[in-house]
Amino acid sequence: MALSRRNFLNGFLGIFSLGGLAAVFGPVIQYLSPVKQNGDTVSSVVAAKVNELTPNSGKIFKFGSKPGILIMTPDGENRAFTAVCTHLGCTVQYSSEDQDIWCACHNGHYDLNGNVISGPPPRALEQYKCFVKGNEIIVQKENT
Ligand code: FES
Repeated sequence: MALSRRNFLNGFLGIFSLGGLAAVFGPVIQYLSPVKQNGDTVSSVVAAKVNELTPNSGKIFKFGSKPGILIMTPDGENRAFTAVCTHLGCTVQYSSEDQDIWCACHNGHYDLNGNVISGPPPRALEQYKCFVKGNEIIVQKENT
């Protein structure tokens, strides 16, 4: 009987010891682990509701950790791009006045296909697939 009580206490203390070790080393291991970049692994998002945009307007949406831009062209077609300017990374916006995509940081302009019209941006904006599913506009990276 005394032996089984001893075994019980040893087991009980062992469990508490393991718990204590986990409490001490768990956060240390978590701290040392690389951070997961959830935003970079996102391949599609809901960018807007179907009736949210009117022709000749745009909307910035969150694509993982980065901004995307959804535009409805003056002809009523939805198009989506990364909203990260290819020059120095500012967030672009839709200019309904110029009917193009504009970066306010250094006056960069992109056409409605994402190609550079003027200003310092060195290359086009990455374009995303864009389709309607139910009441939502889904934006998806081209290579997925
Ligand atoms: S960051 Fe967009 S034009 Fe410079």
